[in-house]
Parts: sequence; structure tokens; C-alpha cells
Amino acid sequence: MLHVFAHPGLSSSRINKAQWRAAQSVSGITSVDLYAENPRYTMDIEAEQQRLLNHDVILLQFPLFWYSCPALVKEWIDLVFEHGFAYGEGGDRLKGKLLMLAISAGGPQEAYSHKGYQHFTLRTFLTPFEQTARLCQMHFPAPYVQHGALSADPAPHARGFSRLLEGLRDDRLDMDRALQSEILTHDTLPLIES
Ligand SMILES: Cc1cc2nc3c(=O)[nH]c(=O)nc-3n(C[C@H](O)[C@H](O)[C@H](O)COP(=O)(O)O)c2cc1C
Repeated sequence: MLHVFAHPGLSSSRINKAQWRAAQSVSGITSVDLYAENPRYTMDIEAEQQRLLNHDVILLQFPLFWYSCPALVKEWIDLVFEHGFAYGEGGDRLKGKLLMLAISAGGPQEAYSHKGYQHFTLRTFLTPFEQTARLCQMHFPAPYVQHGALSADPAPHARGFSRLLEGLRDDRLDMDRALQSEILTHDTLPLIES
């Protein structure tokens, strides 16, 4: 599995830094720090595409910024998910793979509803990612989420993230439940015990 991590201000991060550190002790996965690898937003598109081809599960981890991803994640998708590679004529190289998001959001869960102050559900904000996956014929399970990220204790979310990575690596994520869920959290991870 390929774990692509993106945070432009890692030194001040609590949640994502704890997750990133937890991921480092999970064996048998490829973890990539996108900002560390591409500080000038330059990208080796062929190498990035090859990395995608080498893995069946692609997990993108980032903090929610203005209801979307940090800029480098957008750049990565724009450049790497090319026509003829990811979609369009002859573009089925990602077909059947799984694209999953792991996201932290400052707003509390109740804010992300029609009656809440964010006015829309988190899944509504994430529809560009969901439809990108669909266009590329990829599966898109519910995202792994930490709400209230500015005050939440990072430890349970980071521990859950390790369990999620191990579950994805070992094909133990209950895909039916993950596809049907709205979001997944550290205490609602549908993992099949080994
Ligand atoms: C530029 C910027 C934009 C943000 N936009 C949102 C947002 O749209 N919705 C939200 O819930 N939180 C938003 N936040 C809060 C971040 O999601 C939050 O700081 C982050 O998830 C915390 O994770 P960290 O401890 O790893 O930095 C934003 C923060 C920044 C710096």
C-alpha cells in the first residue's frame, strides 16, 4: 500500500505529525512525505505514476484546508492523474485500485451538517475526490477522519491510523462497510480481526 502524506507546516502539526510518526512503525507499506519530496512543487510525473502502478491501495493523508486539500495534493493529482493514464482513452491504469483519504478537520463533527455552521457534510466537500476515484474506476471507501483537530488528543487517532494501515496492508478492512459508511473514526474502524 502507498501512503501519501501532505502537510505544509509539519512543525506546528499535532494530529498529522502523530499519524505520520505512527505510520513509520508500520512495516510493509510505502510512506511518502509529499512536501518533503517536492518543496518547490516540482514533480517527477513518471516516477509518481510508477509508484501508483506499484500499489493497489493509495491512502492520502492531509489536513482539511478551506474544505479541500493542501495545494501540493491538488498539484499532485493535477499532474499525475493524467489523461490516457488515469482516465480517458486508454486511461485505465488505476482501474480496480482503492483510493482512500485520511483527513483532520478543525471543525467539530456536528458543524459538518446541514444545520451546523459548516452547512454541508464533510462528504459533500470531498465529492471532487470521490468523483476523481470514480472517473479513474477506483474504489473510494469512507475517509478516516479526526474532527475537532485543534483540541483533540492525537493519540487515539494515531493509534487507529496504524491499525487502519495494517488492515489495508493485510486486506482486513471490511470493504462493504467501509464503502457504505459516511466517515470512519478510530472507534468505528471496520477491521476484520486476524
Ligand atoms: C489554511 C487553513 C485552512 C483550514 N481550513 C479548514 C477547513 O476548511 N475546515 C476545517 O474544519 N478546518 C480547517 N482548518 C483547520 C485544519 O484542518 C487543522 O488545523 C488541522 O486539521 C489540524 O491538524 P494538524 O494538527 O496536523 O495541523 C484550516 C487550517 C488552515 C491552516
